[in-house]
Amino acid sequence: MPSTFPVFDPASPQAESIRDLFVQVLFISAVIFAIVSGLICMALVKFRSQETLPAQDFGSHKREIAWIVGPVIVVVWIAAISIKLILTVNALPPQYAKGESAGNSEVDIFVTGHQWWWEVEYAGSGIVSANEIHIPTGKKLRVKLQSDDVIHSFWVPQLSRKMDAIPGHENYIWLEADTPGVYQGRCAEYCGTQHAWMNFQVIAHDDSDFAAWQQQEEKVAPTPTTGQAAAGAELFMKLTCSQCHAISGTNAKEDFAPNLTHLAGRREIGAGAITYSPENLRTWLANPQAIKPGCKMPNFKLSDEHLDQLVAYLEILR
Ligand code: CUA
Repeated sequence: MPSTFPVFDPASPQAESIRDLFVQVLFISAVIFAIVSGLICMALVKFRSQETLPAQDFGSHKREIAWIVGPVIVVVWIAAISIKLILTVNALPPQYAKGESAGNSEVDIFVTGHQWWWEVEYAGSGIVSANEIHIPTGKKLRVKLQSDDVIHSFWVPQLSRKMDAIPGHENYIWLEADTPGVYQGRCAEYCGTQHAWMNFQVIAHDDSDFAAWQQQEEKVAPTPTTGQAAAGAELFMKLTCSQCHAISGTNAKEDFAPNLTHLAGRREIGAGAITYSPENLRTWLANPQAIKPGCKMPNFKLSDEHLDQLVAYLEILR
């Protein structure tokens, strides 16, 4: 079950300090709001329908000092907890000695925003995926954010702050999860028609599960040679699928659209538009525009036979 109020349900030290700041500022604001609106209500009742002005009171040093000191304390308090938050969120783990401007050698995961999906590449292993980020728990990982087209905003409320993905500009963010689980991610900045369906998930594993996932992900599905799946594989190349999508171990190498090497192992289709199942995949292929209007995948008007063949092929990509 995804968290209903993820901002209040942090799963990393960063998200926890962001939640703490939010709750404290909310509390301070609520108190100020109560005082101000209380005074207004009091004035409304107390001085109602009086024909003469109430007694006017000019110049009270004590009150002036109180009105200055009070807000100054509030501002300093909020500044202090904000600075503490910034230091926590930006703290460099020891293995990343070179600071924010370190080159690609200190990046763990490269994330690129596209209209309307996220490309994910893992440094070292070279694994490429889409709309799912798998991480081991208890490690602070450096994510390098970029964009291919317009400005997107990368946000996993339970794990981290927001960070823009900007074309031609590199941004960095830390990703860390205390406990294994699935954490929802969103694009937090309007980026076009399907901004609402530009979701992703961060899946945190304990060490052994992460190693198993990585091992599976490094494998390549064998190209089928018989049956529906073989016909589907042939169709994939013959139609224009391979001009946008890549599947490792085949001639499909384009990265305009999500990499499909392990499509059948994913949880969702269309960056969260529908959950993954063979039936949903078939519905998607039959007309992606009906599910995600405006997405870059056209309706190929495939026949039932072709749909069955393509689903049979894509289903083996685990
Ligand atoms: Cu990408 Cu909104």
